[in-house]
Amino acid sequence: MKINSAEFVISNQEVKKCPTNKLPEYAFIGRSNVGKSSLINMLTDRKNLAKTSGRPGKTQLINHFIINKNWYLVDLPGYGYARVSKSSKAKFQKFITNYFEKRQQLVSAFVLVDVRHDPQPIDTEFMEYLGENGIPFGIIFTKADKLKPNALERNVENYKNALLEGIWEEVPPYFVTSASNKTGRDELLAYIDGINQT
Ligand code: GTP
Ligand code: MG
Repeated sequence: MKINSAEFVISNQEVKKCPTNKLPEYAFIGRSNVGKSSLINMLTDRKNLAKTSGRPGKTQLINHFIINKNWYLVDLPGYGYARVSKSSKAKFQKFITNYFEKRQQLVSAFVLVDVRHDPQPIDTEFMEYLGENGIPFGIIFTKADKLKPNALERNVENYKNALLEGIWEEVPPYFVTSASNKTGRDELLAYIDGINQT
């Protein structure tokens, strides 16, 4: 898919203030600092469309971007970021779960995981939460540029095996990506395009 336009639309904490038209949307979720905002910039080929930072906790709101005027990418805050106060953390989680449970336009979530790490409960539990709520999702392995090919392959296999040993009967669609060198961009855009065409 060619990206002809990519524009910021709105940021907020309330699902009822999200865009009201029925265009399909895809949401990026994962731990703070995993690379959600960087991935959105990589996919859209825009350097600063979504704000990124080396410090976790950069993205704090639900951010809608409209792509080619006919679908949305949604950048979400990271989960598992301990440096916010407890009450703001609870609120955080609440508006994220509200988004996932109420947003009718959501076609698929993408759960981002850093490909360097073993499966973490916070991520696999979030996938289980999506499964329990009937929300389709794919897995995006990020920061592939940080590993040599052998280690990359080993970690991806390890992750898939862990899912199959857990509650999953099959491995969800998954993508190996790097925002630094655009690995996985074509595959991910083709996947989204395929869904949008149906
Ligand atoms: P929050 O908004 O805080 O939840 O973080 P985020 O998941 O949006 O992460 P962000 O895109 O801001 O990236 C976090 C850090 O990781 C930044 O320093 C990025 O430059 C770096 N980063 C993101 N993706 C990649 C990647 O593919 N490769 C490398 N080497 N660094 C990356
Ligand atoms: Mg972010």
